[in-house]
Amino acid sequence: MPLLIRNADIVNAESRSRGDIYVENETISRIGQNLQAPPDAEVIDATGKLVFPGFIDPHVHIYLPFMATFAKDTHETGSIAALIGGTTTYIEMCCPSRMDDALDGYRLWKSKADGNSACDYTFHMSVTKFEARTEAQLREIVADGIASFKVFLAYKNFFGIDDGELYQTLQLARKLGVIVTAHCENAELVGRLQQSLIEQGKTGPEWHEPSRPESVEAEGTHRFATFLEITGCAGYVVHLSCQRALDAAMAAKSRGVRLWIESVLPHLLLDKSYAEHRGVEGMKHVMSPPLRHHRHRKVLWDALGAGFIDTVGTDHCPFDTAQKLLGKDAFTQIPNGIPGIEERVNLLYTYGVKSGVLTLQRFVDAASTQAAKLFGLFPRKGTIAVGSDADLVIYDTGYHGTISAATHHTNCDYSGFQGMIIEGRPAIVTVRGKVQVRDGKFVGERGRGRMLRREPGYF
Ligand code: URP
Ligand code: ZN
Ligand code: ZN
Repeated sequence: MPLLIRNADIVNAESRSRGDIYVENETISRIGQNLQAPPDAEVIDATGKLVFPGFIDPHVHIYLPFMATFAKDTHETGSIAALIGGTTTYIEMCCPSRMDDALDGYRLWKSKADGNSACDYTFHMSVTKFEARTEAQLREIVADGIASFKVFLAYKNFFGIDDGELYQTLQLARKLGVIVTAHCENAELVGRLQQSLIEQGKTGPEWHEPSRPESVEAEGTHRFATFLEITGCAGYVVHLSCQRALDAAMAAKSRGVRLWIESVLPHLLLDKSYAEHRGVEGMKHVMSPPLRHHRHRKVLWDALGAGFIDTVGTDHCPFDTAQKLLGKDAFTQIPNGIPGIEERVNLLYTYGVKSGVLTLQRFVDAASTQAAKLFGLFPRKGTIAVGSDADLVIYDTGYHGTISAATHHTNCDYSGFQGMIIEGRPAIVTVRGKVQVRDGKFVGERGRGRMLRREPGYF
């Protein structure tokens, strides 16, 4: 069915305009004044609301075997939560461990999403070892439409790669025209610090941050950037959390290294005092890199406002209370991760735009357009333009609400952002022209989401 959105206040990353948007065959076919629609078209009046391109979360975990358990969402629950929050595309980390075969892992991750996601999706393919068959396997995965890799400098012996494997991965990525995303922490130093703290009887969640201080993230960021510089590969630091890592990344950018930076909602809005609560309350806020001293939040917001930080993701990674308690005797056993897929856009709008730190354009850029450009989805995604997929968010800036696990849709019994106020939420969310969400309720088609094939070599 065609769709006509009348009186739209259209906000793109580089423009703002008023008009009607007409959608046929899943794409935007016309933008203009007083557009006419056939009698069978669905007509939505967007007067008084903002209309954004569908938001893109560049960093989520849905299926994830990790730390002796599995993250709690399925693509069904995760995608519905994403859509209710205005995210119409997510990029999932495909994370087979070092013990697994990469190609088998890729097929497994794909099978979990296939037919189950209500929003569109793609994957960053993790390279967790580099052996004789790895190049051929990665070439096959890229030919299947995956144009970005992921490496972990942390999580030794599980996801983590050594420097030789990092070099080989970046060299291949450079040849293929694939961008490499990286979790930057020094695995060896984290392991040594963890061991020393545990030996001193420092076992609670409040010791997670001291086991991964700023210096280990700065070292990982600097090392990743140095390897990019030598190989000429393009890179993207995920979930950058602190001043020293930002300094390392900015120094590399100013040397001409092709490097982009992501921050995630927990580091922008929470701080280490949340993980210092006693028992499971603290454990709920254990993620890596850890929540930092609150002074880093302003550093990140300022860098985001200035465009030094390019994108905002969630690192959505839900483990419930029972799973968090796996770490009751040692913080090293607490499954790392905080959910947030549903809250990202509303929190960024409330604490970024409404508080005056982000312009509307920077907000759209950081939460949608930049990810589309960096990961080979633009202009199909990330903009409201003729020819683009009709992923649209009609946003109600008059909404007031409070975040609560009692009302969220992710499959997790707590929210890392419990009790926070939001001032705005999507009234309507469409995926390729079909209304999937109305006023906080999923009203659409489960399984509508498609895997987005991406071409490498767009750098
Ligand atoms: O704590 C986190 N971030 N959990 C998910 C895995 C990762 O490192 O992104
Ligand atoms: Zn990570
Ligand atoms: Zn992650």
